[in-house]
Amino acid sequence: MTLHSLRGFRDLLPPESSLFTRIEAAARGVFALYGYREIRIPTIESRELFVKSTGDTTDIVEKEMYAFTDQGGREVAVRPEGTPGVVRAYIEQNLSQTGRNGKYYYMGNMFRAERPQAGRYREFTQIGAECIGNPSPFADAESIGMLVKLLEKAGVRGLSAEVNSLGCAECRKSYRETLLDYLRANSASLCEVCRNRIERNPLRALDCKIDGPALVEKAPKLVLCAPCSEHFAKTQELLKVSGVEFKVNLNLVRGLDYYTRTVFEVKTSSLGSQDAVAGGGRYDDLVKSMGGPQAPAIGWAMGVDRLAALLKDQARADDPAAFVIAASDGARNAAFGLLGELRAAGVSADFSNFELSLKSQMRSADKSGAAVALILGEDEIKNATCAVKTLKEKTEQRTVPMTELLTEIKKMVP
Ligand code: HAM
Repeated sequence: MTLHSLRGFRDLLPPESSLFTRIEAAARGVFALYGYREIRIPTIESRELFVKSTGDTTDIVEKEMYAFTDQGGREVAVRPEGTPGVVRAYIEQNLSQTGRNGKYYYMGNMFRAERPQAGRYREFTQIGAECIGNPSPFADAESIGMLVKLLEKAGVRGLSAEVNSLGCAECRKSYRETLLDYLRANSASLCEVCRNRIERNPLRALDCKIDGPALVEKAPKLVLCAPCSEHFAKTQELLKVSGVEFKVNLNLVRGLDYYTRTVFEVKTSSLGSQDAVAGGGRYDDLVKSMGGPQAPAIGWAMGVDRLAALLKDQARADDPAAFVIAASDGARNAAFGLLGELRAAGVSADFSNFELSLKSQMRSADKSGAAVALILGEDEIKNATCAVKTLKEKTEQRTVPMTELLTEIKKMVP
């Protein structure tokens, strides 16, 4: 019997894995520029945390969460997203009292039992950023601008940012009734799950994946109260000032319950229906509702798997610069020593098996992606030289004195 990975779970192999590393490195660079510091939160939390924050009327909590009872009889869940854990940590660790900005970023695996398809996995990687404690539209514009900058840094082009405002509890009070009337009248076009959600969370029904788009387009629109309207206008003004390209999409509703005011998504047309590379928004009431201080917040998360898919042409294997070959028994130790010298000098170097034939080692060198093969045999040892052969351009083999080898190689490899 062969064992297989589970459906929706996958192995990330080189060179794709190197793309993930590159994206993560680009993100760390951008976060440092914007004053975001790293937070590492647990993978498993109490189930209740996600029910209370992500929301018990969301697909994520209702249908997709990996939740189970552990050996101690505790109801736990494997995190489907990072925001609830960050908020819990913010409250539990009294982070509002540090006197510093509550700007945190995280990178890690998230788990949702969604129906797997291209760009949608049951285990996926998110890079996320949360800015907690700043109610002003300057924080909104900074957060969205930083996301766009990160995507640019990672090398993607042609993405479009969409923004909307979902207002606050005040604006939603009267809207709720209007929307309820509309949804009740159109409940036949909703899926069963969303139909059952109408009364509990009418806004959530607008995210219906079955007939959602048509329904949302015709739905009565939320009228923002004066402060929310001002906040949205200022956010747009600041995005323009920072040169961030975006468009307003009044139909943008997000799939999580905690959002207030600004919401946004960055989309691409090249990933089929799974088109959101990143999404986020403001959650001004969440920290308080979870038992913390009044701390309005904004944040986003980016799907690294989707971003890597967009950048797949740029995937480069982490190939070594040099491949060392021992062409005779007596040269093996010297070849092993040469590997050490190369690495100490900052030249990445690899080998296969010095005990195999020259031909077999050459074959491995060709497959390794290395720029040069360095061959040591009887003659080379005797004369303190090394045979150097370029592998990609297939130029003639040259003999280089050992004393000049490092300088030569550094000239030859990028
Ligand atoms: P989200 O929209 O659920 O937001 O997820 C953010 C991003 O994660 C999506 O745009 C997508 O790129 C990626 N993603 C989500 N599900 C999958 C999946 N099954 N397979 C691959 N990629 C996926 C959040 O998670 C919020 N925590 C964002 C946020 C932070 N809002 C405020 N702060």
